[in-house]
Amino acid sequence: MKDDLLKIKGQALDSIAQAADLRALEDVRVATFGKKGTVTALSRTMGSLSAEERPAMGQMVNEVKDALEAAFTAKKQGLADAALEASLADEKIDITLPGRNFALGSKHPLTTVIDEICRIFMGMGYEIATGPDVETDYHNFEALNIPKNHPARDEQDTFYVEGGHVLRTHTSPVQIRKMSEGRLPIAAVAPGKVFRSDEVDATHSPVFHQIEGLVVDKGIHMGHLKGALTVFAEALFGEGVKTRFRPHHFPFTEPSAEMDISCFGCGQDAEKMQDCRICKGEGWVELLGCGMVHPKVLAGCGIDPEVYSGFAFGMGLERIAMQRYNIDDMRLLFDNDMRFLKQF
Ligand code: PHE
Repeated sequence: MKDDLLKIKGQALDSIAQAADLRALEDVRVATFGKKGTVTALSRTMGSLSAEERPAMGQMVNEVKDALEAAFTAKKQGLADAALEASLADEKIDITLPGRNFALGSKHPLTTVIDEICRIFMGMGYEIATGPDVETDYHNFEALNIPKNHPARDEQDTFYVEGGHVLRTHTSPVQIRKMSEGRLPIAAVAPGKVFRSDEVDATHSPVFHQIEGLVVDKGIHMGHLKGALTVFAEALFGEGVKTRFRPHHFPFTEPSAEMDISCFGCGQDAEKMQDCRICKGEGWVELLGCGMVHPKVLAGCGIDPEVYSGFAFGMGLERIAMQRYNIDDMRLLFDNDMRFLKQF
């Protein structure tokens, strides 16, 4: 029996040494100490020994068990260490590889101009309003006192959409939407895209941007219009800029005017003015259209023109951006060429 025990021990130790992974090792453990294991089987035969033989044999069996347990534990630790080593080697991160770059964009020059103008008006208490790009004939024309036969409705200028809708030709329909909400007083600016069926060239695009302004309250008069727009011009173009209002005509304002600002390119300097790229020798640059909201327009929106009055203005943004950033072709603003946009 002692020989059997030593033989079992020897075989078990060999198997432990050869186990390639934790699973194989577990199989060896079961084959040794499991219900049908070799050591278990041998322990069972102890009963057949004489009372004298039993203690010495029992001690030996225990020693063998302890030795094998120790061998299992050591092997198990060894295999676990090896597995960890292997996975560490496998999942090694090469920290010398160059990182991935994120392409960081910059604000489009038009966005910068829109943000800046909105900020100026917000500083004067105006809110930002919006309206849809696809407008009803009513909002874009009718409610703005633009009758059916007005040249602005000419097919050449307006993109018509199915169902009698149009792509808005100006931001003025936002005036109508704002006034129809029934909340007074109003002080709002509305930036956005507008559409006219123009051929693309260096100064025209079928899509461009405007910002609309509207103030309605009791007792609003032309002085408020001039004051607000002069403060605005100084904030955008710098103190000392001069403004000039020329009579004009818009169907939805009465009286109407165009506002010019003194040229910021030449500063109206007699010598520089002659070949000034911005004002072309005029000394003045046209900035926007404006006027007192027509009583018919107020009334059409449910506002009593005997009690309330208002002023409105609208300006194109491309030209401002082009003058400000020295851009000589409007197409550059829409091409979205990164090499161009990166400069701002
Ligand atoms: N909507 C006019 C245009 O597109 C500009 C404007 C707005 C004029 C508001 C007066 C008042 O030319």
